[in-house]
Amino acid sequence: MTRASARGGPAIAEVVASALARLDEAGAGRIEVAMILGSGLSVLADHLEDSVRVPYGEIAGFPRSTVPGHAGNFVVGSLEGRRVGMAQGRLHYYEGYAASEVVLPVRVLRQLGAGVLLITNAAGSLDRRRPPGTLMAIRDQINLQFANPLAGSHQTGRAARMMVEHTETYDPRLLALLHQTALAERIRLREGVYAGVSGPNYESPAEIRFLQRIGADAVGMSTVGEAVAAAALELPLAGVSLLTNFAAGLTRRQLHHDEVTEVAERTRHRLERLIRGFLRRLDGAGMNTPGPRGVQGRA
Ligand code: HPA
Repeated sequence: MTRASARGGPAIAEVVASALARLDEAGAGRIEVAMILGSGLSVLADHLEDSVRVPYGEIAGFPRSTVPGHAGNFVVGSLEGRRVGMAQGRLHYYEGYAASEVVLPVRVLRQLGAGVLLITNAAGSLDRRRPPGTLMAIRDQINLQFANPLAGSHQTGRAARMMVEHTETYDPRLLALLHQTALAERIRLREGVYAGVSGPNYESPAEIRFLQRIGADAVGMSTVGEAVAAAALELPLAGVSLLTNFAAGLTRRQLHHDEVTEVAERTRHRLERLIRGFLRRLDGAGMNTPGPRGVQGRA
């Protein structure tokens, strides 16, 4: 099976079309909210009601998620009275996919009708005052993957826009709504800048000192490309990092993926409460989850 073009050519649009056709066939219907959930957090997809599940493997040309803790399905269903579409199983740049492939779930969920995208991830904390288990709303990001999902997309004239505006990558109304929700639900929520690196290795202590100096509060190996794609698709975005560990050099301990998933597992109930409260309050934020307007064919 051929995979989506690494150059963001027509194959990307074809894969999106295959995914939409398969989801349609499965009876997924339209969605209001898209979610892409990080390490150990994707069990939330199992809590969707009246859900329809389409494994990535059933979609021609779609990449498979190869990381433990990332399942690899689209799941569409109801949560807190909203129609939600989830990419259960994120695709990572470090798995060897092109940046344009990593964002395929964003494109598919946008075309399904999503008017809001909520992203979560597991991340390392760059701040000693923010220990493992801390939840951090993402205010802004630094893309250090040195790969861009929009690169070359002008060549097809349809894959996405370029020179995308990025001053409000994370929608201020949604950020405010996350804080309102946290307050109402008595969940402690910090705020900060997420630095997205390519991985798959964890950082060196010197790299962490560099990230602290350039203004990052958390570091992880996902999210930044998805956020770029969301901006290109004019899809309002909210992001939450679950800080699973102190970044390299902040403690003497060595980092392991098992530790990241373990902390994510212990903390995910709090994050799930935040997400559910956020969904219940979405109307109040003036977001009417309008779905894609004029973006058809730009997938
Ligand atoms: N670094 C990069 N990615 C991560 C980390 C980290 O410390 N923790 C969880 N994801």
